[in-house]
Amino acid sequence: MSGPIAVAAPLTAARVIEALQEARRRTFALVASMSDDDLERVHSPLMSPLVWDLAHIAAYEDLWLVHRYGQRPLLRDDLAAMYDAFETPRAVRGDLPLLGPAATRDYLEEVRARTIEVIDELGVGDGVLHEMVLRHEQQHDETMLQTLMLARLPGYELAGKRPMPASASPRPTGLELIEIPAGACTIGATANGFAYDNERPRHRTDVRGYLIGRTPVTNATYLTFVEGGGYERREWWSDEGWAWKEQHDISRPGGWTADLTAEWRLGGLEPLHPDRPVVHVSWFEADAFARAHGARLPTETEWEKAATWDEEKGVARRYPWGNRRPVPGLHANLDHHGCGTAPAAGYPEGASPYGCLGMIGDTWEWTGTWFDGYPGFVAHPYREYSEVFFGDRYRVLRGGSWATRTRVATSTFRNWDFPDRRQIFAGMRIARDA
Ligand SMILES: [Fe+2]
Repeated sequence: MSGPIAVAAPLTAARVIEALQEARRRTFALVASMSDDDLERVHSPLMSPLVWDLAHIAAYEDLWLVHRYGQRPLLRDDLAAMYDAFETPRAVRGDLPLLGPAATRDYLEEVRARTIEVIDELGVGDGVLHEMVLRHEQQHDETMLQTLMLARLPGYELAGKRPMPASASPRPTGLELIEIPAGACTIGATANGFAYDNERPRHRTDVRGYLIGRTPVTNATYLTFVEGGGYERREWWSDEGWAWKEQHDISRPGGWTADLTAEWRLGGLEPLHPDRPVVHVSWFEADAFARAHGARLPTETEWEKAATWDEEKGVARRYPWGNRRPVPGLHANLDHHGCGTAPAAGYPEGASPYGCLGMIGDTWEWTGTWFDGYPGFVAHPYREYSEVFFGDRYRVLRGGSWATRTRVATSTFRNWDFPDRRQIFAGMRIARDA
């Protein structure tokens, strides 16, 4: 499936509107079955009430596509600060006089009507801002799914659920390693097409030889770690990780029951599936697991090389399997259709040139790298997108999860979070020096 980089079809106004509307249908589908109370409630101190996310999607679209691109006044100037992610941190969002569910839906629809008016009048230019706003909404869908998971809403169902692949044979554990020979590769997004500022510039880098997991670590393997005293062996934990674990009395992944037999999925508890990748572990836990196995987390560069580098041709593929956009269910578990993780190695078509599986979709994978700019980084279109997060505070996660929309799940996309966070659908793949 590899070959020259696929040239994206031209961004016409009609295609942009269609994509924006499709994103909106999916956003509304997430909350269609929810009561007003569940939409307005703070389900977790880490997350916003869902009505905040929804109105924030509208405010962001109004700011970028109507006000900045279309040069029109904001629809609701009075709401701008309340729904600005920087001015209003998550912790205080539950205490604000937020719009109610009905008014929030109206706000979304009124902004969308203005966006379409602007596009009808001005077209979409180079399309960058429209793509940014579109992906912003899609990324918030994943954030809302994190909230829905933490909310533990019994019976919650997502439309479009499809069957998961059967367990692979032989069963993967996450401990089978693939050798990646030393050599240069390219990292980051090309100058063409849409990418976030932190994915650029694409650069060439030398990488020492290393080993990396063929798949993410599975529940069965992680269970062995837990039962083998993984949370009691001080020597496997970093100082910060141990302090965090002790303070919060952490003894298992975020979704697991105390008896270690079941895990929360959207809508209810399910028996712990041995072959699914472990999810809802913090960076600290991922790091401790790796150390317990005489391994470490891959660096971000190692992750991307294993996912994309085609040694024979000397080029980075756009996706592990080639340049074709992901087809959920064929290449990867993406796009919320599965409503959770799928057995590891369940999508052999998604293999990278080195034979790594599950690099896109299913679970975000913690890497050992702090979030920072690539050499020659230039902020675009605003510093607050990523530059203000650079430094030794956030760890990079790669690959997207089952809750990531296909458009967002690229091999160069960089996610980041604090090392103690577990709301993300995140697990890990281990690595080792060759
Ligand atoms: Fe946002």
